[in-house]
Amino acid sequence: MIRARAIIDRDALAHNLSRVRALAPHSRVYAAVKADGYGHGAVTVAGALAAADGFAVSSLDEALQLRWAGIDKPVAMLSQQLDATVCEQAGEYGLEPVVFHETQIEALERYVGPALKIWVKLDSGMHRLGFAPDRVDAIVTRLAALERIEINGWLTHLACADDPSRPETQAQLDVFAQVTAGRPGLRSIANSAGVLGWPAAHADVVRPGIMLYGSSPMSDRDASSYDLKPAMHLSAPLIARNPIAAGETIGYGATWRTPEAMDIGVIGIGYGDGYPRHAPSGTPVLIDGVRVPLVGRVSMDMITVDLRNAPNAKVGDRATLWGGGLDPDEVARHADTIAYELFCRLTPRVRFEVI
Ligand SMILES: Cc1ncc(COP(=O)(O)O)c(C=O)c1O
Repeated sequence: MIRARAIIDRDALAHNLSRVRALAPHSRVYAAVKADGYGHGAVTVAGALAAADGFAVSSLDEALQLRWAGIDKPVAMLSQQLDATVCEQAGEYGLEPVVFHETQIEALERYVGPALKIWVKLDSGMHRLGFAPDRVDAIVTRLAALERIEINGWLTHLACADDPSRPETQAQLDVFAQVTAGRPGLRSIANSAGVLGWPAAHADVVRPGIMLYGSSPMSDRDASSYDLKPAMHLSAPLIARNPIAAGETIGYGATWRTPEAMDIGVIGIGYGDGYPRHAPSGTPVLIDGVRVPLVGRVSMDMITVDLRNAPNAKVGDRATLWGGGLDPDEVARHADTIAYELFCRLTPRVRFEVI
């Protein structure tokens, strides 16, 4: 019997891309497939999202993985440091580096390969990556002197777009508009939260990630309210159903006690598969069409659930950990994390299947 299994739904990915198109109809879409397609498999995801205009990854290795799989759309490398080898490979494979630091410009000044399209990243207020507004004139002057380098566009990243009430987003949009005014090239601002919540951030190119996988980054609305569909269904088998007397404790640390005589289910997935160890008692699991709460601590290979709601669940039945009717964002909230991390953290022990 297959233990933990993640089914990746290509139709759901394509559907979610169509939601991006509907929300940002005038923008090109660079789909974020970094971190192995947010744990879904970068090549699988890029294949299912063949209708995207391009892809966004973090590193050269991630970009090369797409090229070696035959994906020839534009690929932006969001956080790749540049040296001679990286520039050479970017030129050879037609990759689009994001330039966010002066040390990268030194590498570009030494570059002698084929023409390179770059994105220049501006720090509009998040203060993670990008050039400060007062450095931009000097940067542009240096880049303009390089005949092999073409500024394809201008990019920035939003710090608080997941919360529609935060004033920081409009402030960032204002800074970005000011600094890029009159400069040729494309503009790209929006991640998923920008796509969903900030039409003024759509600009020429949007860079959604998490919404393509069927999760909502917004603090005030869930994924189904945007008609987004989970692209991953994580399941595992019920490997034991045990009657336990009232007042007994369950699992490591004896953190949960049976309030009455009841059946406890043991499901074959644990933190060794990437299920979050910190998911507390009460985290929902679906089995036999009903929600059952996790009880006791998550261990490496197993979790335990309260089966009082599921009198018919039997050994061999598959339980859903997220997707397939259980919103990954809800599970993430219980585990005090975000769906991004749930998806990225699955381990090689999970069997992946693509439908
Ligand atoms: C620069 C940049 N753009 C776009 C994205 C996609 O973000 P999201 O998955 O929230 O849509 C990310 C992800 O962190 C990013 O770092």
